[in-house]
Amino acid sequence: MITDTYTIISQEELSPGIFQMALYAPQMAQEALPGQFVDIYCASKDKLLPRPISLFDADPVEGTLSLIYAVVGKGTEEISSMVEGDTIRVTGPLGHGFPLEQARKMEEIFLVGGGLGIPPMYLLARRLHILYPEKPIRVFLGFRSEPWIGEIFSAFGEVLPSSDDGACGFKGTVIDRMKNYLDTADSGSRILYACGPIPMMRAIQPFAADHDIETWFSLEERMGCGFGACYGCPARLRTEEGGSVLKRVCKDGPVFPGKDVIFA
Ligand code: FES
Repeated sequence: MITDTYTIISQEELSPGIFQMALYAPQMAQEALPGQFVDIYCASKDKLLPRPISLFDADPVEGTLSLIYAVVGKGTEEISSMVEGDTIRVTGPLGHGFPLEQARKMEEIFLVGGGLGIPPMYLLARRLHILYPEKPIRVFLGFRSEPWIGEIFSAFGEVLPSSDDGACGFKGTVIDRMKNYLDTADSGSRILYACGPIPMMRAIQPFAADHDIETWFSLEERMGCGFGACYGCPARLRTEEGGSVLKRVCKDGPVFPGKDVIFA
């Protein structure tokens, strides 16, 4: 884990209220794993708590980190107002990323992203494609309506978008789209990595159990410290003994076995 001040090399509004920011952060870019996040600190003294933001991409050769985030309050509003050449304090990479080794024995990989859960799937797609270039990757992306990201995933796999109103791709949820895909797909072993809204993740659990698909979820939770000290980011998980236990999303996660997550 590194804390340092980095220079912003680009900042762009992808869609109203959704921004992509790139930083020159060579050491962090070397260490970054898919599914990890960083804490971004605002310069204003009245905003002491950092803002956790998932990694969208990391390029160890160029030494760059890329983040996609939504403006949801005064902190992210301040971050979105920064421009190329400004500097920003960052701690990271934080948390445990997605287990890539688990995909080795599988015949097909599903990546499932909904809303702001889509960006973390990009670095994951890139690394899985490097590790297992022959393995088919299907990227299921869920939108409310018009897409604001998507085609860039086609460098690593087949993109299968869906939207609530049918404005892009299949009309329905990502679960509907996966069922539709499996209707005509060959049988085989599959692993599914997902990040997105809780209703989406909750719906994936019975779908994955019915189709015998191993799942890994990256949870999004409100955070305080971001590194395990405040217990402000609890997630409840099933234990092997049939009980449950509270884990910290920031430190113990944010990635957990999908079958073990208990959604409230
Ligand atoms: Fe403090 Fe997770 S945010 S323990």
